[in-house]
Amino acid sequence: MRAIFNKMQLKGSKEQYIMKYEKEINRRKSFAIISHPDAGKTTLTEKLLLFGGAIQTAGAVKSNKIKKHATSDFMEIERQRGISVATSVMSFEYKGNLINLLDTPGHKDFAEDTYRTLTAVDSVILVIDSVNGVEPQTRRLMEVCSMRATPVIVFINKMDRDGKNRFDLLEEIEAELKISLHPMTWPINSGKEFKGVYNLHDKSLRLFTASTKADDEDVVAIGDLSSPVLQQKVGDRDADLLREDVELIDGVYGALNPADYLSGAIAPVFFGSAVNNFGVQEMLDTFIQIAPTPRDRETSVRKVQAGEDKFSGFIFKIHANLDPKHRDRIAFMRVCSGRFERNKYYTHVRLDKDVRFTNPYTFLARTKDIVEDAYPGDVVGLFDTGNFKIGDTLTEGEKFYFTGIPTFSPEIFKELVNKDPMKTKQLEKGIQQLTDEGVAQLFTQFGGNKKIIGCVGDLQFEVIQYRLLQEYGAACEFRTLPFYKACWLTSTDKNKLNDFLRYKQQNAAEDKDGSPVYLAQSEWFLNTEITNNPDITFHFTNEVNK
Ligand code: G4P
Repeated sequence: MRAIFNKMQLKGSKEQYIMKYEKEINRRKSFAIISHPDAGKTTLTEKLLLFGGAIQTAGAVKSNKIKKHATSDFMEIERQRGISVATSVMSFEYKGNLINLLDTPGHKDFAEDTYRTLTAVDSVILVIDSVNGVEPQTRRLMEVCSMRATPVIVFINKMDRDGKNRFDLLEEIEAELKISLHPMTWPINSGKEFKGVYNLHDKSLRLFTASTKADDEDVVAIGDLSSPVLQQKVGDRDADLLREDVELIDGVYGALNPADYLSGAIAPVFFGSAVNNFGVQEMLDTFIQIAPTPRDRETSVRKVQAGEDKFSGFIFKIHANLDPKHRDRIAFMRVCSGRFERNKYYTHVRLDKDVRFTNPYTFLARTKDIVEDAYPGDVVGLFDTGNFKIGDTLTEGEKFYFTGIPTFSPEIFKELVNKDPMKTKQLEKGIQQLTDEGVAQLFTQFGGNKKIIGCVGDLQFEVIQYRLLQEYGAACEFRTLPFYKACWLTSTDKNKLNDFLRYKQQNAAEDKDGSPVYLAQSEWFLNTEITNNPDITFHFTNEVNK
């Protein structure tokens, strides 16, 4: 009798447990804000955090921000990066949702960090400056989102400035970013004449006032666009213009189908002014309604569902401690399924080793707090002494790797020259570990042992030189190489590939995993090789976990 009772009790608690577990997953939204530098990412982040009550004053995020224009003082940038570890993930509650906002660096030289962070989120908000439209970094970031079919919400910022014509701007974004847009709000003018936005969904009017506080005072429900209230509020000319615009938009776009947004085919668009805290709340309210909860994830073996019992997660970012006395690092892990628990043993799949974490932490409420458990969508900071590299997978024993974690071609290539032959071993170890962290990519010239370092920005070379000396005692210098892009090569015809590598020895290399790579001097050379070698495929990205 007692046994049956115990069983019943157990069953009850298990059901309760599963219910709680599902509730936890379903209230999580993990996303990143991305933009070309200066479009307003930091300002928008700050406003969202104000809504979420995660910060009390404006300026709190700004003070942690990496100065975008500092190009030479990398120590200062690294120091600020150190501070920004604390704001790498900003978690806050908003209307019953737990929102994990993953920060991405503002400096273009750290773009790789941003690309990797995008593998750990379920959706993004893309900020576009209404004056500048689509900019180079916008294009690149959107490419990464498209590759992964990440749902995107577009926020067109700085409507208080004289921007491009709104229709032209939408057309430009659609053409350049190869995505269909769906306006959710519609602006009434821009610049000095900016009067506000009309919410196409709930048919309300939000009048523009330059303000940094969040309130609903300026929302006017007008029900119908023919309402005289509209004229009263914005004047005859603008009321007519808005009616014409809305008629056109309704005809073209119709209603938003959330499934199209979730599949990454259509991006809802909001207009606003982040610095004036205008149009931000509309977007946030729509975001919590439509943004995806933790999504299922592909692995090398099968699709892993967020709601599965067993824990799994992967490392998407590693941050080193710049203090030479502590060579420990922080690995950022995204929980993909199950419940992560402190002090429990998990399998580090690549090393086939059991590991446990006594002091994992989350970033809830801005402080680094030790956590007992974490759910899908959460990011946990793990102390690491060199066991992790980007893409490493942790499970409860099952052997698989999360896929869809790409590496992109670097843009600057330099030869690593050892300045102290007595420290060759240290240099080897140092460069292996730094490239595991994702600071740079390492290539070895085909048929030789020339080490080639590839980075996105010049700043990283300074970081590497400094860290090799400080942390590993190895002195090095760099010799510039005339390459502009690395392409990973595959072919069904092994002999043809080997012939090509031998013939093009000066431009051929291996990456860290031994995969063959072609280093192109210019677009012209690259296109010529692609045309001349139809049996070889030139890949512009590479999978971390193949
Ligand atoms: P980022 O993180 O994308 O690089 O951009 P950030 O938020 O730092 O914004 C870049 C600049 O644009 C900042 O000005 C910011 O105040 C301004 N800005 C952001 N949103 C708006 C907006 O809606 N309208 C207008 N007119 N400006 C906006 P700054 O002068 O570089 O910095 P600060 O001195 O204001 O801090």
